[in-house]
Amino acid sequence: MLPEEILEKVPRSFDIIGSKQKAVAIVEFAEELEEYESVVAEAIMSLHRNVASVLAKKSARNGEFRTRGLRLVAGDPDTEVLHKESGCLFRLDPKTVYFSPRESSERERIAASVVDGERVLVMFSGIGPFPICIARRHRNATVTAVELNPRAHNYCVENIHLNGVGERVEAILGDVRIVFRDLDKTYDRVLMPLPKGAYMYLDIAIPLLKDGGIIHFYHWAPEDDLFREAEELLTQTALEAGRGLEILKRVKVSQYSPRLWKIRIDAMIPYK
Ligand SMILES: C[S@@+](CC[C@H](N)C(=O)[O-])C[C@H]1O[C@@H](n2cnc3c(N)ncnc32)[C@H](O)[C@@H]1O
Repeated sequence: MLPEEILEKVPRSFDIIGSKQKAVAIVEFAEELEEYESVVAEAIMSLHRNVASVLAKKSARNGEFRTRGLRLVAGDPDTEVLHKESGCLFRLDPKTVYFSPRESSERERIAASVVDGERVLVMFSGIGPFPICIARRHRNATVTAVELNPRAHNYCVENIHLNGVGERVEAILGDVRIVFRDLDKTYDRVLMPLPKGAYMYLDIAIPLLKDGGIIHFYHWAPEDDLFREAEELLTQTALEAGRGLEILKRVKVSQYSPRLWKIRIDAMIPYK
């Protein structure tokens, strides 16, 4: 159904979000494929019987909510799904909230590093994958999740209940900068999963840590100089807050574009 030279442009991989009952495929189409998008979408749906809708990426992630333009190419216009991952359930609509199924192993790694009994803060919590993953793995941990996008927050509240962790995960809607103006709490661990911009909130995050608390700081970094800027930002902010800093781990998390990486620095923040 497609000319030979166009066939080469058909994407070989794409994200599928959802369950065996109903899923959505999110596809990046090359410009040359524009007039064939629906042929490709129908083929995807016939190969993956659970895919009920095919969405085409129309922009990079943008704005404060880190969502992207997505256009329905074929299938059901209702793109809300129930995604299953490592024993957790996440209800979400990729058109209105951030979610990446590719980050499941990162969520597992972070959840594995949490110690039972900890009080954890997840800033920029989205629909709740980190908080829920942590709370399901550690029956004695409590988690606070703070999210700015009201739709993502609402899904987070629903997902907390779907996963039976309502007593240990508290979801707060708001800007972390404003939420923590009035919230007088400290945490054993703070996660900052907003690579584009988490650094602007380090001055809030560091004072929220208990003596010896751990921060997981995400940042974008160029391939030829992966950790320097993130380390400088952390060191400078800890210094300004009158706190110490010991780097525990430097991690290349995933590649964003040919020369840009998402990295993570784990650091321990003691009192001086
Ligand atoms: C990269 S997404 C990560 C979401 C989630 N942690 C996940 O892994 O799926 C970052 C999230 O931070 C939220 N956000 C951006 N600025 C924020 C702020 N100042 N306070 C609270 N949440 C914010 C966005 O709405 C978005 O949902």
